[in-house]
Amino acid sequence: MSVQGSWSGKFAFILAATGSAVGLGNIWKFPYITGENGGGAFVLVYLLCIAAIGIPIMMAEIMLGRRGHQNPVNTMEKLAREEGASSAWKLVGWMGVFAGIMIFSYYSVIAGWALSYFADALRGVFSGITAEGAGKHFNTLLGSWPSLLAWHTLFALMTILIVARGVRGGLEKAVSIMMPALFVMLILMVGYAMGNGEFMKGVHFLFSPDFSKLSGAAVLTAMGHAFFTLSLGMGAIMAYGAYLPKNVSIGATTITIAIADTVVALLAGLAIFPIVFSHGLEAGSGPGLIFTTLPIAFGDMPYSSLFASIFFLLLVFAALSSAISLIEPAVARITEKTAMSRGGATFLVGGFSWLLGIGSILSFNMLSEHKLAGKTFFDWMDYLTSNIMLPLGGLFIAIFAGWVMSRKSSGDELSLSGFSYSLWLFLTRFVAPLAVLIVLLKVSGVLDTLFI
Ligand code: PFF
Repeated sequence: MSVQGSWSGKFAFILAATGSAVGLGNIWKFPYITGENGGGAFVLVYLLCIAAIGIPIMMAEIMLGRRGHQNPVNTMEKLAREEGASSAWKLVGWMGVFAGIMIFSYYSVIAGWALSYFADALRGVFSGITAEGAGKHFNTLLGSWPSLLAWHTLFALMTILIVARGVRGGLEKAVSIMMPALFVMLILMVGYAMGNGEFMKGVHFLFSPDFSKLSGAAVLTAMGHAFFTLSLGMGAIMAYGAYLPKNVSIGATTITIAIADTVVALLAGLAIFPIVFSHGLEAGSGPGLIFTTLPIAFGDMPYSSLFASIFFLLLVFAALSSAISLIEPAVARITEKTAMSRGGATFLVGGFSWLLGIGSILSFNMLSEHKLAGKTFFDWMDYLTSNIMLPLGGLFIAIFAGWVMSRKSSGDELSLSGFSYSLWLFLTRFVAPLAVLIVLLKVSGVLDTLFI
């Protein structure tokens, strides 16, 4: 067994997996991509993807992880051997290892923004800030690559130190307090939006679908985000599943995590859009959305510095508990298969990913005009991982769990039978893989060429 040891029980696993799922994806990314993709219809597709694709695939990942009991690469290899299938299935694990390294590279940059906002909030920068001031403040941060680099480095180091020491106990305990606190802060922000923003406009934007605004690319983004936000398709949850005790129900655990994750994202949306509309801001303004709207709300509240600093600190913790799971598959693979120490492996993986992050930093300033097919380096990292690698990883995981694994193995491991097992099998065999395949083919234009 690795240095991580076994989860002390179901609760510890739920905490770690929820810690991985709830992060920047919910609070930073969900609102801004919802704004960019027109709101309601996009949100509806996203919710459908969580229910019909995300939940069955999360169950499959946890199940494979618990059965394989190793890093994702070796888990896939071992289970393929057990089922008499090709050892090439381990490539799914490898793709996950690289996806994690790529996501961490820019995730750490954005978490750096949150760190910098935490420091600003402590200094009282947001008190009484106007919409214009908040926009300027954000642009000043983005314009300074040395500051972005410093914050990115600090966040990457924090993550590396936690993963290298291999003792998550402290962080998991912290998360058990921080998560509910984050939840309370979000409710508070929604309360502010109700009293001071265009609340009903925000609700309308999020929940009344207008399908004329929904492009094929938006459907892909919604599906990709369902994978991203639940940490699926790259073996992160699989790596955690390796330490889940046998007697825990995978189905119930998965549903708990998916609900918690979704509620946090929707609350973030409800806190942000009413402010966007009351200040005449642009819903589709991109990755800066929460950093240009939330400070306005904080600035207007009593004890603004206190609330703002608590919020950004909690956001950093949420990001940290996700970030550790992004590099864990790579670190686990190296430590389980080579003589390298855990510390060495973590510095290697984290260091490489940190270096890659510099490309994303420069995408917001020096290289912002250097685009390939309309996308900056940061855009490409995000697009390739969320929209391509995670859905592809998920597709193969679903095919493996649904078709390659015998029903006896999956039924035993999930401890499901009767209707619930049939429902899982149906979603995993047909709905999830077909949905992913159709969306990927449609967006790549292959479907259009086939049918014309
Ligand atoms: N789920 C995390 C978030 O929403 O912020 C991001 C993430 C973590 C994606 C781990 C993928 C992963 F494996």
